[in-house]
Parts: sequence; structure tokens; C-alpha cells
Amino acid sequence: MGRYSEGGFRRVQGWLEPISAEIIASLCEQQREMGLSGSACEIGVHHGKLLILLHEGTFSKERTIAIDVFEDQHLNTDGSGRGDKAQFLKNLKAWSDRPDFVDVVQSSSLDLRPSDILSKVDRVRIASIDGGHTSQCAEHDLRLVEGAAHDYAVIIVDDVFNATWPDVMVGLSRYCADPTTKFRPFAISPNKLYLARHDYHEAYRAAMRKRWAQYFENDQKMFDHTVGIYGLAATKAPIKTKVKNILKTTPLFPALRAVKRKIAA
Ligand SMILES: C[S@@+](CC[C@H](N)C(=O)[O-])C[C@H]1O[C@@H](n2cnc3c(N)ncnc32)[C@H](O)[C@@H]1O
Repeated sequence: MGRYSEGGFRRVQGWLEPISAEIIASLCEQQREMGLSGSACEIGVHHGKLLILLHEGTFSKERTIAIDVFEDQHLNTDGSGRGDKAQFLKNLKAWSDRPDFVDVVQSSSLDLRPSDILSKVDRVRIASIDGGHTSQCAEHDLRLVEGAAHDYAVIIVDDVFNATWPDVMVGLSRYCADPTTKFRPFAISPNKLYLARHDYHEAYRAAMRKRWAQYFENDQKMFDHTVGIYGLAATKAPIKTKVKNILKTTPLFPALRAVKRKIAA
């Protein structure tokens, strides 16, 4: 864990559930352990809450690309968030040890092609799509990132299940319904959907099960692919359930349960 995950994360304004932050940070680590390299990318940066976390997961000469309309808010047609380049750069400088390894692109993602990303950074290994929340943006951004991504990349999409932004699901569905597109869902955590190429699903799903057993709830199907559900109950649950979930991960749990049953009998 770096300086940002430990302290800065809570100080930077934005939208990212702590459980999803933990999972994303450990996915970056997992890729590193698997010997996978590449750049990080976010479309829709706002003040950098998730982007700084993604950048913290890069190492050595790996770069990160930060794409947002920033001050050109007339291009933010659905009014999702409000990018602020000065605030983002201030946060980046405050919390990253390698701020010079971030390329900032002020543009609507709709005006970008994969070659625009690849002219700045190496192929992408981890990306967050959290820019425009229209179906047009969601579908376009998935295709854009796919075109700039390594085969082994993970793409994280925000707000797919957020009823405030129903059009994100429409864009995702159009992308997944097109058999020529490559990335499909393999996991869900609070407000985030994770996609990878089918060939990599098993490796990522197994790694997440191992690292995040305490948050794992069950497997479900989405677009004919198995997706692991993580941390939804823990995010919504009252404190009593949260404590129980933590206890469940300890070796003491079976003994505690036996005592509880004896008392109840
Ligand atoms: C919900 S916020 C992003 C939150 C951010 N990921 C975080 O970690 O807190 C959405 C961002 O997308 C930007 N945006 C909206 N439409 C866009 C577009 N078409 N292209 C690029 N960025 C866009 C907004 O300016 C805003 O900063």
C-alpha cells in the first residue's frame, strides 16, 4: 500500500467505494505478479480520486493517461462530475511520487481514437471508464480502450448498475452484443464492473477469489459469462453484519458459531 491508498484517498473528492479501491489496487498488484506490464488509463478523471490510485499501481517506466474534458464542460453533455485540471494536478502532485509519468489529455473522449492514446503511452493494461455517462460515450469509450489495450488488460466501467445513469448499461449492452468486440465482464464490486478478454477470465477470477475471499458473495451470469460478485453486502450492511463478515474470515469462526448454537439450543 502506498501513501495515497493509506491517506490521500480519503482526502481527494470523487466517487469510489473503499472496497472497490482495495480491489482495484490489488488487481494492479496481481498484474505485476503475473509479469504483465503496460500503461494505466482513465477516461473521466474529475479530481483524480481513482486515477491517482491507478497510477500508484504502475511502476518503473510505466505511464498513465488521464483523459477528461476538464474546463471544457460544454462537452460534458450529461453533467456527470465536473473535471477540474488545476485541482487534479494539485492532488496528483500531493499524493504521487511519480507525477511526471502522467499524460493529461483535455478532450472529449468522443474525439479520440486508439492511436491518440498510443501516441502518448504504451498499450494499456488497466483502464477505468468513468467519463460521459451516455450510451454513446459508454460504448465509444469501451471500443476506444479496447483498441489501445493489451490482450491481458482489465477494463473497469463505473455506474453500470446505478439507476441514476441508466444509459451506461445501454452502451455496455451494445458493446457486448457486438460479437466483434473482445472484452466481457468477469467481476462486479460496489459501483464497478470489471471486463477482460475471455482467455483471461479464469486467471483474474481465481486471483480475486484468493485475494478477496472475505468480500466474495457468489457467482452470477452476465452476457453468458460468469461474474464474481464482491463486497456489495459489505458496503450496504449494518455494522453488525460487517463485523460478522470479518469474523467469518478468521479461523476462530467455526468455534464461535458452535458456541452461539449451543447458547441458542
Ligand atoms: C463521475 S466523474 C469521474 C469521477 C472520477 N473517476 C473519480 O475517481 O472520482 C465524470 C468525469 O467525466 C468527465 N467527462 C464527461 N463527459 C466526458 C467526455 N465526453 N469525455 C471525457 N470526459 C468526460 C467530467 O468532466 C467528469 O470529470
